[in-house]
Amino acid sequence: MLKNDRVLRALLREPVDRTPIWLMRQAGRYLPEYRQTRARAESFLDLCRSPDLCTEVALQPIVRYGFDAAILFSDILTLPDAMGLGLRFVEGEGPRFEQPLREEWAIRNLSPPDPELELGYVLEAVRMIKRALADEVPLIGFAGSPWTLACYMVEGAGNSDFTVAKQMAFSRPDLMHRILQVNATAVADYLNAQIAAGADAVMLFDTWGGVLSEASFIEFSLKYLELVCARLTRTARGRRVPVIVFVKGGGVWLKQIAECGADAIGVDWTIDLGRARAQVGDRVALQGNLDPVALLAPPERVAQEAVRVLESYGEGPGHVFNLGHGVLPETPPEHVAVLVETVQHQSGRFHRSPE
Ligand code: CP3
Repeated sequence: MLKNDRVLRALLREPVDRTPIWLMRQAGRYLPEYRQTRARAESFLDLCRSPDLCTEVALQPIVRYGFDAAILFSDILTLPDAMGLGLRFVEGEGPRFEQPLREEWAIRNLSPPDPELELGYVLEAVRMIKRALADEVPLIGFAGSPWTLACYMVEGAGNSDFTVAKQMAFSRPDLMHRILQVNATAVADYLNAQIAAGADAVMLFDTWGGVLSEASFIEFSLKYLELVCARLTRTARGRRVPVIVFVKGGGVWLKQIAECGADAIGVDWTIDLGRARAQVGDRVALQGNLDPVALLAPPERVAQEAVRVLESYGEGPGHVFNLGHGVLPETPPEHVAVLVETVQHQSGRFHRSPE
C-alpha cells in the first residue's frame, strides 16, 4: 500500500487534501548531487544503463524536496536505440542516431523490440527504484510518443522544427505511417513492461506534437497516442494505472487530446489552466503548468506564480502541479524548494470538502 498516493488520486480526479506536485526533469543537472553521480558514469547513456545509478538519481529529488511522485530515470530515446538505430549523446550537443531512418528498406525492416531482452536495464531500474521508494510515493514510468520518437529517428538528431520528419509525412505518408505503427506497438509493449515491473502510472511525452498543423497532428500523432492508450494495461496490483499524455504546444487541441483514452493531460504554460479545465470538463485530470523560466525569478516571485497556477485551476480535484516542460539546468535548487513548499502549504484551501 502506498503511503502517499495523492498523485494517483489526483490523476483519476479523486479527492485529495492538497494539490500534489512533481516536476518533469526533477532529477537532472540543476541538482549538485545529480552532477556528482553523473560524473561517476562514463556518459549519460552509461548512467541510463546502470540501474544502481538510475536509482540513486531518481531518489535524489524525493529526498531533497519530498515530491509526491518519483519518475523513472531514463530517456525516451533508449527505445529507438533498442530498435538498432545506435544512440549517442554528444557532450553539449544532445542526442544523435548513427543510423537515422531515411531508406525505405530500413523502414520496412523496423520492428518493435522485446523489452525484456533489449531494455532489461530499464526494467531493472524500475524494480530497483520501486524497492528503494519503499511505497512512500508512486513511481511514474514513461516513453516518448510514436510521433516524437519518429522525429528523432528520421531526423537523426534533435532540432526545433523537424523539417526532415515533417517532409517525410508530407511526401511519403506511407513510410511515416509504417514507422508510427511500429512505434505505437513498441511504446505500448515497453510501457506495459514498465507497469509489470512496478510503475504505478505512465506518461507519454509528445514533445514535438506542437510542430504539426492540426490536420497533421491528428493524422500523425493523436491517432497513434490513441492506439498506445488502447493497448496499455490499466490495472496492476489491484489499482488503476493512470495514463498521462503530454503534448507540448497542444493547448489548441485540448478537446481532441482529452478523447485519446488518457486519464490526464499534461499542459504547457501557454494556456490558462482554468480555460483548459473548461474545455476538457470532467473527461480528464490536468497536469501542469508553470513556465520553467519562472523558477529563475526571485523566490517571492516563484511563490506568487505558483499560487497563480493553483488559482487558475481553481477548487476541486483533478490537478497535479507540474511545470509546463522540464526543469532548466540553470535553475537554483533553493527556488524549487520554495515552489514545493508553496504548493504543499497553500493548496489545501482548494480542496475543502463540502460539508
Ligand atoms: O527527471 C526526469 O524527468 C526523468 C528523466 C528524463 C530524462 N529525459 C533524462 C535526461 C525524462 C523523462 C526524459 C525525457 C526526454 N528525453 C524527452 C521528453 C521530455 C522533454 O524534455 O521534452 C526528450 C525529448 C528527450 C531527449 C533528450 N534527452 C534530449 C533532447 C536530451 C539533450 C538535451 C538535454 O536536456 O541535455 C536528453 C538528455 C537528458 N535526458 C538529460 C537528462 C537528465 C541530460 C543529460 C546529461 O546529464 O548530460
